[in-house]
Amino acid sequence: MPLVSMNEFLPKAKANKFAVGQFNMNNLEFAQAIVEAAMIEKSPFIFGVSEGALKYMGIEFTVALAEAAAKKSGLPIALHLDHGSSFEVAMKCIRAGFSSVMFDGSHYSFEENIRLTKEVVKAAHAMGVSVEGELGTIGGVEDDISVDEEDANLANPEEAIRFWEETGVDCVAIAVGTAHGMYAGEPNIRFDIIEQVARAIPVPIVLHGGSGVPDEMIRKSIEVGVGKINVNTENQVACTESIREVLGKDAKVYDPRKYLTPARNAMVKVVQSKIQLFGSSNQA
Ligand code: 13P
Repeated sequence: MPLVSMNEFLPKAKANKFAVGQFNMNNLEFAQAIVEAAMIEKSPFIFGVSEGALKYMGIEFTVALAEAAAKKSGLPIALHLDHGSSFEVAMKCIRAGFSSVMFDGSHYSFEENIRLTKEVVKAAHAMGVSVEGELGTIGGVEDDISVDEEDANLANPEEAIRFWEETGVDCVAIAVGTAHGMYAGEPNIRFDIIEQVARAIPVPIVLHGGSGVPDEMIRKSIEVGVGKINVNTENQVACTESIREVLGKDAKVYDPRKYLTPARNAMVKVVQSKIQLFGSSNQA
């Protein structure tokens, strides 16, 4: 099966109250672990690729890995640019074979964010590519993007609704209290904001910073209108912890397969448990 746009599964997710996971791809082992877990669970999913990960893997390898995963699995998989910073980078990804892009104009003024997002939507939709927009500022650290918790701004529900009406994005990431990276305590998620926006628009809300959010909060967020949840850090932690464990036990190990195999297996477990929690098992 070729890569698909998020519109292959997001409308169904919103209607049937489940969420599709965006699992960030950072290398071959991430790609393999994510697709293996999704095959066991028969779930659609989204490969999220940040600009940092794109620089690390190279755009050709990134697209080739995602296409190989789609071909091998037969699952509906979207290859999605995560936090795209410009029209140009979004177009570059689409030309290379991405089936979905996020344009993150959240650091622009509200009107400028609408104007720039609309341009991306017009070009992307003409090519059958789905678009995610962002409103409000999500805190935490992801690649080179770092936002202090004090600078994180929750989304204004009325603005979020107008943002969708004017841009026609296929899903909207709104800042509701989650953050990229692990949490020191528990996040304070504004379910009321999610519910108010989700009720007024036909497309799902995206929850960024899915790592470390307690299960019951994830379930509640899906109940009130989240249909896409992004997870990266938990896989990174599982991967690195298992490598550390193998190397810590045996200082003579030199074959990368000896530590990357358990690292990959650890990520399969993380992704499988998230898919089950998000309710997207058997939705492929
Ligand atoms: P985490 O790394 O906190 O899971 O967040 C991932 C994310 O939101 C990617 O955009």
